[in-house]
Amino acid sequence: MSKVVIINHPLIEHKLAIIRNKNTDAKTFRENVSEISSLVTYEITRDLTTKAVEIETPIAKTICYSLAKEVVIVPILRAGLGMVDGIHSVIPTAKIGHIGLYRDEETLLPKEYYVKLPDNIMSATVLLVDPMLATGGSAVAAINHIKARGAKDIRFVGLVGCPEGIRALSEAHPDVDIFLIKEDERLNEKGYIVPGLGDCGDRLFGTK
Ligand code: PRP
Ligand code: URA
Repeated sequence: MSKVVIINHPLIEHKLAIIRNKNTDAKTFRENVSEISSLVTYEITRDLTTKAVEIETPIAKTICYSLAKEVVIVPILRAGLGMVDGIHSVIPTAKIGHIGLYRDEETLLPKEYYVKLPDNIMSATVLLVDPMLATGGSAVAAINHIKARGAKDIRFVGLVGCPEGIRALSEAHPDVDIFLIKEDERLNEKGYIVPGLGDCGDRLFGTK
């Protein structure tokens, strides 16, 4: 089964309170999603492999350690876009792919409308990012695409999830570790996470 990591930190809790609040405006919501994404990057990359490199400082030669593999960030559109800048600010060499999916409002099944992934994806560490893990359908479909392109080292990075989505993702892709900042109670009858933070895409982009 997938390793599930819930990332705890007082700063993250503080910012989660801001994005959960229905009275938070879109600018503040976007800023806090981005800031949380930067903070979680330290935890999700903690076990990346490094390689020894010889560096000459102004004083002497020494051995340092650089990332052994490239990192690719893949947001699930739209809401995943809100996490990209925060992660990219900490891993500026990462390449970025895009997977466009939206949930059919009746069936809650993901519909694909765009896929563009970088060529190095098969040898890279892939960070699939989407703030919400609800039914898990979008994450499972996105990982199907990424695996079909040959990627083997994939981590799912979300903000708020629920037991239903964690179970579905873990069963479909047990080799993919799941990082979240909170596991909420459940899904409601419309497929929204309770208590959640509402429709993340709409709140990021002001579409409702
Ligand atoms: C939201 C969210 C996830 C998906 C999660 O996207 O950003 O991609 O729902 O739900 P699931 O786990 O049940 O698949 P949505 O389909 O609303 O599209 P949007 O980001 O374009 O608003
Ligand atoms: N997508 C969202 O944006 N929010 C939810 O609660 C569930 C899916």
